[in-house]
Amino acid sequence: MSIKRAKISAVGHYLPEYRLTNFELEKMVDTNDEWIRTRTGISERRILKDPDKATAFMGAEAAKEALEEASVDPLEIDLVVLATVTPDYLFPATACLVQEMIGAKNAFAFDLSAACSGFLYALSTGASFIEAGNAKKVLVIGADKMSSILDYTDRNTCILFGDGAGAVILEESDDDTGIINSIHHTEGDTNCSLYQHAGGSLNPATAETVAARQHYITQDGRAVFKKATMGMADVSLEIMKKNNLTADDVDWLVPHQANLRIIEATANRMGVTSDKVMININKYGNTTAGTIPLCLYDWKNKLNKGDNLVLAAFGGGFTWGATYVKWSM
Ligand code: ACO
Repeated sequence: MSIKRAKISAVGHYLPEYRLTNFELEKMVDTNDEWIRTRTGISERRILKDPDKATAFMGAEAAKEALEEASVDPLEIDLVVLATVTPDYLFPATACLVQEMIGAKNAFAFDLSAACSGFLYALSTGASFIEAGNAKKVLVIGADKMSSILDYTDRNTCILFGDGAGAVILEESDDDTGIINSIHHTEGDTNCSLYQHAGGSLNPATAETVAARQHYITQDGRAVFKKATMGMADVSLEIMKKNNLTADDVDWLVPHQANLRIIEATANRMGVTSDKVMININKYGNTTAGTIPLCLYDWKNKLNKGDNLVLAAFGGGFTWGATYVKWSM
């Protein structure tokens, strides 16, 4: 019996037009361009200003672009998996809204919450449906409107994130390219090093939670930085070992864009030179579930069929993982 494998057949993206620069942030909190650039690698990030638009809108725009590129009719899509920590509503799932917005009437749809690792978890989930023969065409979307949960009086967090979305279409591969395998890890962060305190079932929204600014992201930056640097590098080495890949075999590292120093530490541990590392954190900041598909979109014209890509991420949860993709286009 031959083994089915999923491949990425198209990539789409959406980025809001508004650019929030470090210089503008200097006027909002006690920070400066030099500090932000040297500590994070970020110069600007995109913000979705339209109050009537949110994560579903961005996800749908990215999905429409991917569908057009692949010349796939939305009615052919069997499944929509959307990774986000900023859903339009707590329920229904944002994926359901996207399904309607793009006219994917034959698809079932659900959200997946794994923070910055969300896109990789969703990619594995979507690929599994194809491998099992339960879907032929799957839309995997990573989308986050991080500005909706950022406290723009907190310099520890508001400088880091931006809004954006990326989407890929998965189809069955007919050769040896595609999504080869993945490794995923979780370590429950009961210390709440990175979390949104209120708005869930434990601390539902009240006048007090709003007044205490508990609906925004809170994080222990140093603790997360340490964990992320270790986790992303370790899992990238793990996936190389699993697939007998040397640093020379890796054509591209596609890292989650949280902090340039985390990305560089991962590339160094892998022995991969900087010319093979996708970096766009300077332009977009950390778009959470959006970072990896946004990298694929920005680099897609430089990729060749058969290129070996290592996708790697670390995020809140804690969640982390890596995926080995042999590029199919
Ligand atoms: N501007 C100026 N100074 C600042 C700012 C700011 N925006 N933020 C913090 N500082 C100050 C601190 O108060 C501290 O001052 P002190 O020494 O007087 O106490 C000093 O700068 C150093 O602070 P650190 O927290 O040690 O700075 P660090 O080098 O660790 O950088 C950062 C902070 C950028 C948050 C880093 O820890 C980081 O990137 N952590 C990972 C967090 C992350 O990316 N989370 C996103 C989700 S998880 C993920 O995607 C992997």
